[in-house]
Amino acid sequence: SYDDVLNAEQLQKLLYLLELTEDPAIIERALVTLGNNAAFSANQVIIRELGGIPIVGSKIKDPNHSIKEKALNALSNLSVNVENQIKIKVYVNQVCEDVLSGPLNSPVQLAGLRLLTNMTVTNDHQHMFTNYITDLFQVLLAGNGTTKVQVLKLLLNLSENPAMTEGLLGAQVDSSFLSLYDGHVAKEILLRALTLFQNINNCLKKEGHLTVQPTFTQGSLFFLLYGEECAQKMRALVNHHDADVKEKLLNLNSKYQTSSFPQLEL
Ligand SMILES: *[C@@H]1O[C@H](CO)[C@@H](O)[C@H](O)[C@H]1NC(C)=O
Ligand SMILES: *[C@@H]1O[C@H](CO)[C@@H](O)[C@H](O)[C@H]1NC(C)=O
Ligand SMILES: *[C@@H]1O[C@H](CO)[C@@H](O)[C@H](O)[C@H]1NC(C)=O
Ligand SMILES: *[C@@H]1O[C@H](CO)[C@@H](O)[C@H](O)[C@H]1NC(C)=O
Ligand SMILES: *[C@@H]1O[C@H](CO)[C@@H](O)[C@H](O)[C@H]1NC(C)=O
Repeated sequence: SYDDVLNAEQLQKLLYLLELTEDPAIIERALVTLGNNAAFSANQVIIRELGGIPIVGSKIKDPNHSIKEKALNALSNLSVNVENQIKIKVYVNQVCEDVLSGPLNSPVQLAGLRLLTNMTVTNDHQHMFTNYITDLFQVLLAGNGTTKVQVLKLLLNLSENPAMTEGLLGAQVDSSFLSLYDGHVAKEILLRALTLFQNINNCLKKEGHLTVQPTFTQGSLFFLLYGEECAQKMRALVNHHDADVKEKLLNLNSKYQTSSFPQLEL
């Protein structure tokens, strides 16, 4: 059964089976069972020690999207363990490429995004995302609500890390990004988009970047966030009906006003 909690010996057998079988139905079942078992922290260690991570990891290259998705899910659960992350990080580039090439809003894309989000829970591996930021913003803008929320979770993790601030602000982002700050946007998206802005502001201040002349180009996230159109959106949101949105905005505004960017005055 998928839900059985297996001991080390059984996990070992399951991994052998996964390595040897070519039957897609068995591969899929084994991956789901491993993923469920990897919800337990003791099993996360056992599966790593049995050499299970490369066995599961090899399945993310499977052309069958259903198998790929189950492998990504299993890696997501395994990635909750920090030592496992060191072994899983070799798949980050591949998963980024896969997520960016779609199919948009598919279960496999979402599974990839969840794994990538788990891999950014600490700052340790975030630098691996630097080259994908611009493309991640494209997925953010093109995706539906579910996809948007998941990409925002990932970007929010990056935005808390001052080492990633320059990469985020330098990303070339379509101006439709600012429509995430429209009053009618779903709260779970709007609040995260506002938090993204707030985190970036905080990092800029923490790093003393405000005294440095920024070298961001036209069309970058920097120009969008610190331009007049964004300021207008923020002013409009002050009258938002939702208390959480208002509170987030007040917080953002006080940061805004103490900043030295001239275009930020509200
Ligand atoms: C992918 O694997 C699943 C799970 O076993 C199977 O049902 C499906 O037919 C496979 N799809 C293709 C295209 O091979
Ligand atoms: C992963 O872990 C969660 C609990 O943390 C569990 O609900 C889920 O079924 C597990 N399995 C997969 C494949 O994600
Ligand atoms: C990691 O991913 C799993 C499964 O997708 C999820 O249940 C879990 O909450 C995530 N863990 C963290 C720390 O984000
Ligand atoms: C996004 O698309 C996926 C796949 O079509 C769907 O399952 C999901 O419910 C959609 N989410 C929203 C919020 O529309
Ligand atoms: C990433 O986000 C999760 C919640 O989604 C949070 O628990 C974690 O602290 C964040 N990590 C960083 C580095 O921002």
